[in-house]
Amino acid sequence: MPTKPTKPTDTANTPPEADADVRGLLGDRRVHRVGYGAMQLEHVPRQEAIALLRRAVELGVDHVDTAHFYGAGAVNEAIGSALAQQRDGVLIASKVGATHEPAAEYGLAPAQRPEQLRAEVEANLRSLGVDRIDLVNLRRLDGGGPGIRASGDQVVDLDDQLAALADLRQAGTIGHIGLSNVTRAQLRQALPVGIACVQNHYNLLDRTDAPVLDECRARNIAWVPFFPLGSGVTAHPAVLAAAERTDASPAQVGLAWLLGHAPQTLLIPGTTKPAHLEQNLRAVDVHLDADTRAELDGLGNRIEHTGRTKNTAHEPTS
Ligand SMILES: NC(=O)c1ccc[n+]([C@@H]2O[C@H](COP(=O)([O-])OP(=O)(O)OC[C@H]3O[C@@H](n4cnc5c(N)ncnc54)[C@H](OP(=O)(O)O)[C@@H]3O)[C@@H](O)[C@H]2O)c1
Repeated sequence: MPTKPTKPTDTANTPPEADADVRGLLGDRRVHRVGYGAMQLEHVPRQEAIALLRRAVELGVDHVDTAHFYGAGAVNEAIGSALAQQRDGVLIASKVGATHEPAAEYGLAPAQRPEQLRAEVEANLRSLGVDRIDLVNLRRLDGGGPGIRASGDQVVDLDDQLAALADLRQAGTIGHIGLSNVTRAQLRQALPVGIACVQNHYNLLDRTDAPVLDECRARNIAWVPFFPLGSGVTAHPAVLAAAERTDASPAQVGLAWLLGHAPQTLLIPGTTKPAHLEQNLRAVDVHLDADTRAELDGLGNRIEHTGRTKNTAHEPTS
């Protein structure tokens, strides 16, 4: 396994075909295929979070996934502080569709109504300390993935939600619109608005949303799976054996499998540890030979994501 750190590259002058293994298109930017998912920073003291984010950027991360509702704005505030000097170099993707509610299950309440989406975008702008968010994912609560569910007046027509986000994009408040936790039919319905990415639950062992990935493949839409290391991937015997053979860590095998599985894939693994961060970025250098890949492909869908309970140490919050 190569040990040199992954360096940021000059995307403006690099033809796409020259760096397709390392970078991929997200909105109008070519980002490193391994970004950083900031949700785990909810559990990390602020200074430690800032140091980790700065280390991530140093190592080549130029895509950070977040939400205002992570830590009631605290994660966004840490990102705003950590990246104050590098704002233009790092694509920030946030999400709307839920809001922080300490008394609720998972500390989250649905916020699906158009005016609530606008309010969450405003909250994100404030906590990140920016006047524009590069990419905002609309997190639906009816797509079948894990997390809280919408009911009553929180069951909102997708077109009404997209209209609200399209207005914000038109005004320049957000750069691009993405979708999260959607079905293939919802993705198709949203296509006329212009969809930069889909962020659904997907990993080596939970491929329930393969039809949504197929749609992204066919339309060349970025696929940003959440819980890339969830569902017990790093403890699965086949992954452990592949890691041993490949001289990589189990996490790297899980991530490298995802990267090789579909060229539109961009990863946002979460971690609280600098060593894991480094390891995860180097997943782009991990080569799974044909036999190993075939064996991992053959595991198929091991888990149906029909609810909140997963065979994983890190349970979903959103
Ligand atoms: N759209 C949505 O609904 C939604 C839902 C959930 C999450 N997300 C986004 O997706 C991102 C990823 O999700 P996630 O962080 O919950 O799950 P994840 O990336 O699948 O896994 C994170 C877990 O894996 C561990 N880990 C990371 N790298 C490792 C390594 N190299 N070796 C061993 N263990 C490793 C982390 O522990 P350590 O801290 O010990 O490394 C952490 O417990 C989130 O940060 C968030 O941005 C989106």
